[in-house]
Amino acid sequence: MSWNPELYHKFKKERFEPFKDLMSLIVVREGLRVLDLGCGTGELTEMVLDMLPQSEVLGIDSSKEMLEKTSIKKRPGLNFELCPIEKVSGGWDLIFSNAAIQWVSNHEQLIPGLVSLLKPGGQIAVQLPANHKHATQTIDSELAREEPFSSALGGWSKEWPVLSIGEYADLLYESGAQDINVFEKIYPHVLENIEAVIDWLSGTALLPYFERLPQELHEDFLNSYRERLQDLYPEVPVFYPFQRIFFSARMPQ
Ligand SMILES: C[S@@+](CC[C@H](N)C(=O)[O-])C[C@H]1O[C@@H](n2cnc3c(N)ncnc32)[C@H](O)[C@@H]1O
Repeated sequence: MSWNPELYHKFKKERFEPFKDLMSLIVVREGLRVLDLGCGTGELTEMVLDMLPQSEVLGIDSSKEMLEKTSIKKRPGLNFELCPIEKVSGGWDLIFSNAAIQWVSNHEQLIPGLVSLLKPGGQIAVQLPANHKHATQTIDSELAREEPFSSALGGWSKEWPVLSIGEYADLLYESGAQDINVFEKIYPHVLENIEAVIDWLSGTALLPYFERLPQELHEDFLNSYRERLQDLYPEVPVFYPFQRIFFSARMPQ
């Protein structure tokens, strides 16, 4: 999928808040081997290295566009690799991920697989968006079922693999982890107008549609999306509550 780092970073301030909350879950220790899943442009990967003395952090991502921006950040202890989350291996003291695993299917298999890569005492700490039931994100699947988009997409619409917090807690427990902490949080963003909502989603959740729709339908799709958003949000500014899931757990020593 083709990511646009500039568009993604347009909402840096809003996207940084959940990252701070994720960082507060990380147990600070020294000399760790750390893996950042879906590191994007690597800013957050670097911040985690800065909080963990004498550690080595590897950021992995499947997007060349995002990873290109990491080249200037490389320094001792900080490395980046083109690698899909589905293919990670090795033994880690900390595996963390901010806003990335929602792009990987089958969390029932993914979470136990990640936990199995933790060393004794190792920690997993994850933040993932869980806003797919919000109207701003059900509009896109609604449109995908309508013509001309339905035929162009061959009946496809984006299904998010995100589970409930109870299911994440079960998966962590069944994988042998302890100190389990799982919760949801709503970030009450107030955006200037619906164009800001469109920019936000064009940088993430709408990307799978742009990837599959022929170029000549991109504008029609966005215009139809805009019309429905306008009905939903007739006034400005726009209250855009954004729900996210956090989980953290550690393996026994
Ligand atoms: C929303 S960005 C988050 C980036 C970074 N963690 C942050 O918080 O700024 C999601 C990232 O996950 C990456 N990603 C999506 N699916 C992936 C996969 N299967 N394997 C590796 N990276 C993936 C994307 O390329 C993108 O850089």
